[in-house]
Amino acid sequence: MCRLELAGLEKTYGSKKQEKRAVQNLTAGFAHGVYGLLGENGAGKTTLLRMIVGILKPTQGQITCDGIPIGQLGGAYRNLLGYLPQDFGYYKEFSAVRFLNYIAALKAVEPNTAKERIEQLLETVGLTEERNKKLKTFSGGMLRRIGIAQALLNEPKILILDEPTAGLDPRERVRFRNIISALGKDRIVILSTHIVSDVEYIADQIMIMKHGQLIKTGTQAQILEPVVGCVWNCIVPVKTADELNATYAVSNLRNFNGDYNKNNSGEYDAMNVGNHGEQVEFRIVSREKPHPEAVEVEPVLEDAYLYYYI
Ligand SMILES: Nc1ncnc2c1ncn2[C@@H]1O[C@H](COP(=O)(O)OP(=O)(O)O)[C@@H](O)[C@H]1O
Ligand SMILES: [Mg+2]
Repeated sequence: MCRLELAGLEKTYGSKKQEKRAVQNLTAGFAHGVYGLLGENGAGKTTLLRMIVGILKPTQGQITCDGIPIGQLGGAYRNLLGYLPQDFGYYKEFSAVRFLNYIAALKAVEPNTAKERIEQLLETVGLTEERNKKLKTFSGGMLRRIGIAQALLNEPKILILDEPTAGLDPRERVRFRNIISALGKDRIVILSTHIVSDVEYIADQIMIMKHGQLIKTGTQAQILEPVVGCVWNCIVPVKTADELNATYAVSNLRNFNGDYNKNNSGEYDAMNVGNHGEQVEFRIVSREKPHPEAVEVEPVLEDAYLYYYI
């Protein structure tokens, strides 16, 4: 088990004239578990992860592993790392098993150990049957799974996955979440994404990044706590919808045809009693009650993400 610390980390791209502060004064610590790094495109996630794996040098600040700067650790640190880059490249003509053997050789894994480990990893990522198929025939989900397998070849203590679910269909997403969740038991897994549901069920810690800064870090409960009392559900006629939409942060919106009543617990029930024209159901994130008819509801991570981002 190791401990990773980032202290006052900064990365500025470009010249003085056209500076881009991609990561700003970022301080964080990681022990074992799954860390979900959440942020919109351009927030600085890839820049941060590239600094953590040591392929990008910070403009300022320090990264230490068990108290020692990673630059000093050199190869010993690289041996602890597994990395799936956002733009994961692969060799189209290679079969799955050949590709893994190739990466194992690059990582200097001893051949007999590699053989055994490759079998295990193919099993873990569910590609044993496709082992001899060429990578060019793989779906996006299969490629991402082989990407994880290659990152795991050296049994890393720190696993960095940059947008590993990009381009996956919903079923592949679920499968992926299950694999990653199991991996966080005895290592640090840092997973970046701009999709809230990718980390909602598997991350022990959520880190929300915006404009190069960490704007919120904590467990799901800690992230949700300040948002309690700020999420509302209301159903309004379509003519009022535009106004609500323009005034408030809307986390969800649904069009209805029909009439709706509240039930005893204050939730809306779809009742097919007459048709009062088209209505719109809003889920709104707001400190104040957005509408006289609005009902307070429990926040979920998606609401919280919106709350911190606005
Ligand atoms: N090599 C680079 N040169 C200049 N600007 C860059 C470079 N890489 C990234 N950026 C800029 O830095 C910011 C953060 O990018 P990135 O780390 O890729 O964010 P994310 O992974 O969250 O989408 C963006 O504004 C991006 O345009
Ligand atoms: Mg990125």
